[in-house]
Amino acid sequence: MTARSFGPVILIHGGAGKVAPDLVELRRDGIRAAVVNGWQVLTAGGSAVDAVEQVVKTLEDDPAFNAGRGAVLNRDGEIELDASIMDGRGLAAGAVGAVKRIANPVTLARTVMEAGGPTLLVGEGAQRFAAAVGIKECVAEALITERQRARWSALREEQVEGVGTVGAIAIDQAGHLAAATSTGGLPLKTPGRVGDSALIGCGTYADDQLGAASCTGNGEAIIKLVLAKTALEFLRMGEEPMAAARRAVGELTARTGAEVGIILLDQYGRIGVARNTAQMPCACIREGNTDPEIFD
Ligand code: GLY
Repeated sequence: MTARSFGPVILIHGGAGKVAPDLVELRRDGIRAAVVNGWQVLTAGGSAVDAVEQVVKTLEDDPAFNAGRGAVLNRDGEIELDASIMDGRGLAAGAVGAVKRIANPVTLARTVMEAGGPTLLVGEGAQRFAAAVGIKECVAEALITERQRARWSALREEQVEGVGTVGAIAIDQAGHLAAATSTGGLPLKTPGRVGDSALIGCGTYADDQLGAASCTGNGEAIIKLVLAKTALEFLRMGEEPMAAARRAVGELTARTGAEVGIILLDQYGRIGVARNTAQMPCACIREGNTDPEIFD
């Protein structure tokens, strides 16, 4: 085995798309706080899985993002959440789709992963699994913010793109990779719709032998291109991480015209970031840097 010559890295995103002006600073602050949380996990010797779960939980709890509390409402005015997590050590993965009244779907996804049975649970079956493992439901109103209720009322008659999916990828001190993604999906989505964030290979992927990726944007397009795995395969073909991210977004744009973004790490901790949207708040901390690098 080759000796490692690099330290841990955490790279996170707060969703691709155009952000309402009053949310720009709030999202930047939220991203900064979340990446610091993830970095503290890594420097304390925590695993990459611990770090990405911690980051995504922090962003799910932050109402400025479309995940957990603050998620967009579906056509019926309800919140249905998708999330997934993957451990690059052995390709273990867990995901939940269209879950209701769960404050931290990423933790439920991790519990699915660690249970070692099905990889993806949706709807009522996921709710029953949560109850069985002691993850308590909150009241539905606890996740609905005034902003999203007002937006739902205003947008009911329009076709809109959604923004604000959150994701994190990390490499830990032992050189293991992980990825996690969480979202409320698209505003006014059809009840029962599950997007890329719950689908391993589409919104989330991690493999110690390749890299880790988390996607954001139009889930239908991301699913068609299997974007996370596709971008990582470009690494296998010899692309640098930044070029791999750009090529993945470029191909998706050419084939679908949809709005997306991606963050990725290769197995050596080198980063790639690309988007075809106006904004995608991201943050990274690498060994040697105490301050987060923040970029939109
Ligand atoms: N990328 C989030 C979604 O489409 O559900």
